[in-house]
Amino acid sequence: MPVREQARRVAEEAKGFLAVAEGMRLYELSLEGSAWAPCLEIGSYCGKSTVYLGEGCRETGRHPLFTVDHHRGSEEQQPGQAYFDPALYSAELGGTNTLPWLLRNLRRAGLEDWVIPIISESTRLGRFWSPGGLGLLFIDGGHSEEDVLGDYRTWAHQVIRGGYLCVHDVFPDPRDGGQAPYHLVLHARSTGAWEYLGAEESLVVLRRR
Ligand SMILES: C[S@@+](CC[C@H](N)C(=O)[O-])C[C@H]1O[C@@H](n2cnc3c(N)ncnc32)[C@H](O)[C@@H]1O
Repeated sequence: MPVREQARRVAEEAKGFLAVAEGMRLYELSLEGSAWAPCLEIGSYCGKSTVYLGEGCRETGRHPLFTVDHHRGSEEQQPGQAYFDPALYSAELGGTNTLPWLLRNLRRAGLEDWVIPIISESTRLGRFWSPGGLGLLFIDGGHSEEDVLGDYRTWAHQVIRGGYLCVHDVFPDPRDGGQAPYHLVLHARSTGAWEYLGAEESLVVLRRR
């Protein structure tokens, strides 16, 4: 099923770190996952991946997408670091603030009824979240070993049988990027709990057995 033109345009114009093919894969998976249970994204940033995932939820019309981010940017997005974007700097807050960009993109894409933004550190949110099951979990928050493993340990057990675990920025070759998401995928596969469904560029998809 094609993505609505309005949502596709917003997703492609949004600041972010996701290829169109990766976004389309998330869209297809959220069409299925959101039919069973809510979806959760860790790492909203300005909403690029959020729009693809939220559009799948809207299209299916059953369960929403929760998207969590503290909206202060990851380490590499701070002033002076490689991925710092001055347009996202808030003088009032004295640092990066991506929340207004997320909200603007959700509104422009017509997804405010289907995406529920949560402003929080992801593992902190998990400590107060009642088990209810997730149809899809997308991990794209902090990229340190500690963050990535923390997100997996906090959230992966919530994914229902048949539900999807998607991990972004998975680079088997260290020359292509940081290794923490790759290590997470190796760990998840070693548990035997997940079926490997393949990769779309740096997006790896697993399904709970
Ligand atoms: C790589 S960006 C996400 C990119 C986004 N998914 C996209 O499609 O453009 C990572 C995001 O994770 C957020 N983040 C980093 N560590 C976090 C944590 N511990 N809890 C919540 N959000 C976190 C950052 O603020 C940043 O917005």
